[in-house]
Amino acid sequence: MVIFGGTGDLTHRKLIPALYHLAYQGLLPENFAVAAVGRREKSEEVYRQEVLQSVEKYARFEMDQKVWRELVERIYYIPFSFEEDEGYKRLRDFLEKLDQGYHTGGNRFYYLAVSPESFPIIVERLKSNQLTQGEGWHRLVIEKPFGQNLDSAQRLNEKIQEVFLERDTYRIDHYLGKEMIQNMMVIRFANSIFEPLWNHQYIDHIQITAAEQEGVGSRGGYYEKAGALRDMVQNHILQLLAITAMEPPYKNDAEAIRDEKVKILRSIRFKETMNMHEDVTLGQYRGYLQEQRVDPNSTIETFAGLKLFLDSERWKDVPFYIRTGKMLKEKMTQVVVQFKKPPLFYSHEGEEVQPNLLIIRIQPEEGAVFQFNAKKPGTLQQVVPVDMNFCQNCHIGANSPEAYEKLLLDVMEGDASRFTRWDEVEQSWKFIDSLSDCCTNKKELLETYSPGGWGPIKSEELLLRDKRKWWNL
Ligand code: BG6
Repeated sequence: MVIFGGTGDLTHRKLIPALYHLAYQGLLPENFAVAAVGRREKSEEVYRQEVLQSVEKYARFEMDQKVWRELVERIYYIPFSFEEDEGYKRLRDFLEKLDQGYHTGGNRFYYLAVSPESFPIIVERLKSNQLTQGEGWHRLVIEKPFGQNLDSAQRLNEKIQEVFLERDTYRIDHYLGKEMIQNMMVIRFANSIFEPLWNHQYIDHIQITAAEQEGVGSRGGYYEKAGALRDMVQNHILQLLAITAMEPPYKNDAEAIRDEKVKILRSIRFKETMNMHEDVTLGQYRGYLQEQRVDPNSTIETFAGLKLFLDSERWKDVPFYIRTGKMLKEKMTQVVVQFKKPPLFYSHEGEEVQPNLLIIRIQPEEGAVFQFNAKKPGTLQQVVPVDMNFCQNCHIGANSPEAYEKLLLDVMEGDASRFTRWDEVEQSWKFIDSLSDCCTNKKELLETYSPGGWGPIKSEELLLRDKRKWWNL
C-alpha cells in the first residue's frame, strides 16, 4: 500500500487506525507493507511514533503491543514532493525492495489521500516513472472530491484512464463502507417480506437524512468551493438513494450492483420537470460567515433539501425527500420508508392511524425499526404505533468495523462493489450541475437557519406542502 499524503489527517485519523484494526483481527495479509509518502522531511522513527499516537487516539480496540509492533515494522516513510521525478524513482527502487522482502508479487495499490489538485500530477508521474507496470496488479484508490462539476470530473477521469483501467480505479465513497449501508441490500433482498412492498403501490414516500451536528470547522477553505450539494449530495446521499431504490442485481458482483445503481441515477428527474424553487431548499447556518477561511459574503449552502422523483415503473409518483446539513440538532443518518395509509382502519373517536414506517438507521445508532399499529390495551378501541427494533450497536461490546477497514480489504481483494464506477460519478454530477445552475450562489434562495435545529423553515415546508412531515426519529 502506497499512501500519498502519509502525514495528512485522513492517514492519521482513518487509514492507519483501520490497518491496525485489520491487524488486530488477523485480517491483514502477511505479504503486506506500507510506504507512506509525504512532503515533510522526517525520519522513519519519528513517523512511526506519530502514527502510534494517532492509533492510540482513534483505535476502536485496546492497544495490543505485539500487534502494533508487527504492523509498525511494516510501515515506511518516504519523503518527497509530488512533482519531483527523483522522488518517484526512489519510491520505485524502494517498492522493489519491499516486493522482495515481503513477497508481495509486485501487487500495489496507490492511495491518494491528498488534496484533489495533486491527483493528476501523481497519477502522471506514477506512469512516467514506471510505477504502474510490471508484475502484479496496480490499483489506484482515490478520495473525494472527484471533480467539482461534470467537466472537471471528466478531465480528471481522462487523466486517470491514461494510466489505470476502470477496473483498477477505486473511487472512495466512505458511506459505502458503512455497516448499515451494506446491510440495506441484505434487508431488502434477503427478506421476502419487504421486496414485494417496495414500490409505488405500497410506499407513500421515502426520506433520506444525513444530519451533522458539527459545523465546517477548519475545512472552510474546501467547503467554500463545495457546499452541501457537492460535499454530501453528489456522492453519499445519491449513493444512498441508489441503494434504496435499485432493482435487485442479477448477481452479487461489482458490475451487476453498479449497473443497477447507475440506472437509478439516470432516472432522477432533471431540471426541466423539477419545480426548482419549490423542490429545492438551501440554507446556511448562522455563524458560517464567521468561520475560518470563509468569505464573509459567502452564499455557499450548508444545508440542502430536495424533493425528487425517479422515472421508473417501480417508483412512479413516489417522492424522495432528501436533506443534509451541518450544525443541525444531532448527528443522524437514516432512511425512512413511509408506507401508504392502511385502507381499513378504525380508531377511537376518529383518531388518525399512523402510517407504517421502516427506518433504516445508519448512524450513530445502527439498525432498523419497523413501526406498525396495534391496539392499545384497554376497553377503548385505540390504535397506537408500536416498534420492532433491531439495534446492532446498542449492546455493550458491540463494535462495528469502521468503513475504511472494509474498503481497504476490498481493494486488496479486488472487489469494487463498494466503490463508485465512473458512470455513477458522471450521472451524479450531471444532476448536481443542473441544480447548481439554477440554485446555488443565489442569495435570494438561501435561507439562514439557527444552529441546533433541523435546518431552514423551507425544508419543513417541502413536506408540509404535500401534507407530510420529516420523521426526526
Ligand atoms: C465527508 C464530507 O465526505 O463526509 C464531510 O466531506 C462530512 O463534510 C463527512 O462531515 C460525513 O461523514 P460521516 O461518516 O461522519 O457521516
